[in-house]
Amino acid sequence: MIEFPPAPPESQPPYRHDPYVSSRRRAPRQPLISIPQTLSELTGPMYGHNPIGETDNDLTRQCADAPQGERILVAGRVLDEDGRGVPNAMVEIWQANAAGRYRHSRDAHHAPLDPNFLGAGRVLTDGAGNYRFTTIKPGAYPWRNHDNAWRPAHIHFSLFGAGLLSRLVTQMYFPNDPLIPLDPLINGIPDAAARGRLISSFDLAVTEPEWALGYRFDVVLRGRDCTPFEEPRR
Ligand SMILES: [Fe+2]
Repeated sequence: MIEFPPAPPESQPPYRHDPYVSSRRRAPRQPLISIPQTLSELTGPMYGHNPIGETDNDLTRQCADAPQGERILVAGRVLDEDGRGVPNAMVEIWQANAAGRYRHSRDAHHAPLDPNFLGAGRVLTDGAGNYRFTTIKPGAYPWRNHDNAWRPAHIHFSLFGAGLLSRLVTQMYFPNDPLIPLDPLINGIPDAAARGRLISSFDLAVTEPEWALGYRFDVVLRGRDCTPFEEPRR
C-alpha cells in the first residue's frame, strides 16, 4: 500500500491564522488525533454513478445564452510528488460570476446575478493528468473579515483522487492581482514559494486566438512542492 507523506508544514496554512477571523472559531482547540491511513483511502467509495456531461467543463455553455464577462481558459495538470500526471482525478471548480457574486442563497453582495452563469464545473483528468475548463474570469468580492476587505479574484478547486476519502480543496488566483498581498487566506501560508503555487500563470499556449486568454494552474498533491490545501493532511 502507498503511504502518503505529510506535506512540508510551512507549505500549508495553519488551522488558526488570526487575521483570517473565522479561523479563530474553526481551529481545533485540542491536540489532533492521528488516524492511521488504511487501504480504504485508495479503494473507495469512488465516483462512477453520475457520468460527466458534455458541458460540465465549459461554464459558458451551461445555460441558454453565454454569460457576461471575460471568457478565459484554465488548464493544467494534477501531479504526484514525482511530477507524474494523475489520471482520472475528479477536478471540480466553483466561482463567483464576473461581477463577484455567487449563485448561492447566502451571498448578499450587492452585485448582479447572471442568469446565464451557474458557476460550477467538473472534469476528469486525462491519462497524463491534464484538465481544462472554459469559464468567465470571476470578479473580486467584499467579505466582512476586516474593514474594507475584498477577496482577490479566485476559483475554488476540489480534487478527488482514487476514492472519495482523498479529497483536497484549494483556491486558484490570478497573476498580478493587487488584492493578493492583502488577503489573509493566502498570506496565512508561511512559505512564499508555496503561496506562489496558488497563483496561476498567463500562458499563451493555453490561450486560443480570437477566443480567450489562457491560464495555467498545476496542482501537486503531495511531496516537497505540494500545493497548499484547505484543511490539509498533517
Ligand atoms: Fe470564494
